[in-house]
Amino acid sequence: MKTHIITYGCQMNEYDTHLVRSELASLGAEFVESWREADFVLVNTCAVRGKPVEKVRSLLGELRKEKEKRSLMVGMMGCLAQLEEGQQLARKFEVDVLLGPGAITEIGKALEAKSRFWDLSFREELTHHLPPAPEGALSAYVTIIRGCNHHCTYCIVPTTRGPEVSRHPNLILREVEQLKASGVLEVTLLGQNVNSYGKDQPGFPSFAELLRLVAQVGIPRIKFTTSHPVNFTDDVIAAMAETPEVCRYIHLPVQSGSNRVLRRMGREYRREWYLDRIRAIREAMPDAVLSTDIIVGFPGETEEDFQETLSLYDEVRYDSAYMFIYSPRPGTPSYKHFQDLPREVKVERLQRLIEKQKEWSYRQNQRWVGQTVEVLVRGAAKDESFAEGHTRGNHPTLVPATQAPRPGLYQVRVQQATPHMLLGEVVGAQAPATIPLLMA
Ligand code: SAH
Ligand code: SF4
Ligand code: F3S
Repeated sequence: MKTHIITYGCQMNEYDTHLVRSELASLGAEFVESWREADFVLVNTCAVRGKPVEKVRSLLGELRKEKEKRSLMVGMMGCLAQLEEGQQLARKFEVDVLLGPGAITEIGKALEAKSRFWDLSFREELTHHLPPAPEGALSAYVTIIRGCNHHCTYCIVPTTRGPEVSRHPNLILREVEQLKASGVLEVTLLGQNVNSYGKDQPGFPSFAELLRLVAQVGIPRIKFTTSHPVNFTDDVIAAMAETPEVCRYIHLPVQSGSNRVLRRMGREYRREWYLDRIRAIREAMPDAVLSTDIIVGFPGETEEDFQETLSLYDEVRYDSAYMFIYSPRPGTPSYKHFQDLPREVKVERLQRLIEKQKEWSYRQNQRWVGQTVEVLVRGAAKDESFAEGHTRGNHPTLVPATQAPRPGLYQVRVQQATPHMLLGEVVGAQAPATIPLLMA
C-alpha cells in the first residue's frame, strides 16, 4: 500500500512515527513523498496548543475532499486522537483509523480491519517495541519513559499520554546498541519527564544510573529531553559531569519566573529552587549550555509577574529558549478556572521576551568564538557551499562544504557567532571515539 505519514508535535511523536513506520514497512508498505500519491495517509497529531490542532483540522478537511475523488484511507494517531476534540474531528472528517498514543502498535490490526478501527487504550507492549535503527542516520531518538505524572494546570499531555511508564533498561540498552552498530553517533533519550525514569517500576535504575549505563554502550554523544526542574536532582548533575559521553546541554523548562504564576501553573517548584538547580549545574559544569521553555500570558500574569520572567532570564543567561503564548486547552484546569488574557497583551510580552532571548543568545554564542568545538555534520546546508551540523550544546553550525565532505564528527574552530548559529572552519578530521569535553 502506498503510504504517507505526516507528523506534528514533539520528538516523542517523531519517535512514534518511526516506530509505526517500521511496523508498516514490515507489513509491506511502500512510502511515497506526497499524500496526493498515497492510498493511506496517516497523521500523527499534537494537541499541546491550538495551532497544531488547527493544522490537523485543515489537513483532515483536505483529505476528506480527496476521499470524494478516489479511494483513500485516512488514519489519525497521537495526542489529539486521544481527546474528545480529536475524536469529534475524526467523526466529522471520516477518519478510518484512530490510534491513541498508547495504541500505535495496533496499526497492523487497524489495516486488516474491514471497517473503521478506533483504539484508545494504553498498551503495555508499546514499551517493549524496538524499532530498527534509521538507515544512514547519525542521530536517533530513544524513548525511555512514556506519559507524565505532573499536573501542570495548562497542559494537556498527562491526559493524552497517560501516567508515567518506564521502559525496561535492557530494552533501552539493546536499542542503543543497535543504533551504535548502525553507525549512529548521537542518541537523545526521550520522555515528557526523563528525570522520573524508573520511579514507577521497582528495581529499575534511576535516571542518573541509566545515563551512566547508556554511556557505556559507547556512542559518543548522549543527550536527553525533557527534564522537570523538580526532579533535576544532584545525582543527575553528577552523572552528567562525570560521564564524558553525556552532552552538557540541558533543556530545563522554567515556564515562568514568578512564584505566583508558577503556583497557579502547578509547577511544584519556586523560582528560588529553579535558580538553585542552575547554580548547581554551573558549579559542576561551567561549560553547560542551557535552554528552556517559557509560557507568556498565563491567565492572571501581571506586568510585574512578566518582569520576573525577564529578570530570571537575565539571571540564568539562557543560550536559547522556546517561547510560547499561553494557549487555553479544553480539558485542562487552567482552561476551566482561569480567564484568558487579551491577545494583544500576550503578543506584546512575547515580543519583549524574544528580544531578550536574541540578546542573550548572541552574547552566549560569542563565548565560542575562537574555541574548538565538536560538530556533528549532517550534510549540505541550504546554501550548498556550506555543510551544516550541530555542536554538543545543540548550536546549529555551518562550515565550508569542502572542509566536511562527509557527514560525521568534526573538530571546528568557531570564527563567528550570531544569535542563531555558529560559523567556523574544520581543524580536525573525524573526531576520535572518545570525545573531549567542550572547553568553557
Ligand atoms: N514535558 C515537557 C514538555 C511539555 S510540552 C515539560 O514538562 O517541559 C512542551 C512545552 O509546551 C511546555 O514546556 C510548555 O512550555 C508548552 N506548553 C504546554 N502547554 C501549553 C499551553 N497550553 N499553552 C502554551 N504552551 C504550552
Ligand atoms: Fe505537561 Fe507539566 Fe507534564 Fe510537562 S511536566 S508534560 S508541562 S504536565
Ligand atoms: Fe504534542 Fe503530544 Fe508531544 S501534545 S508536544 S505531541 S506529547
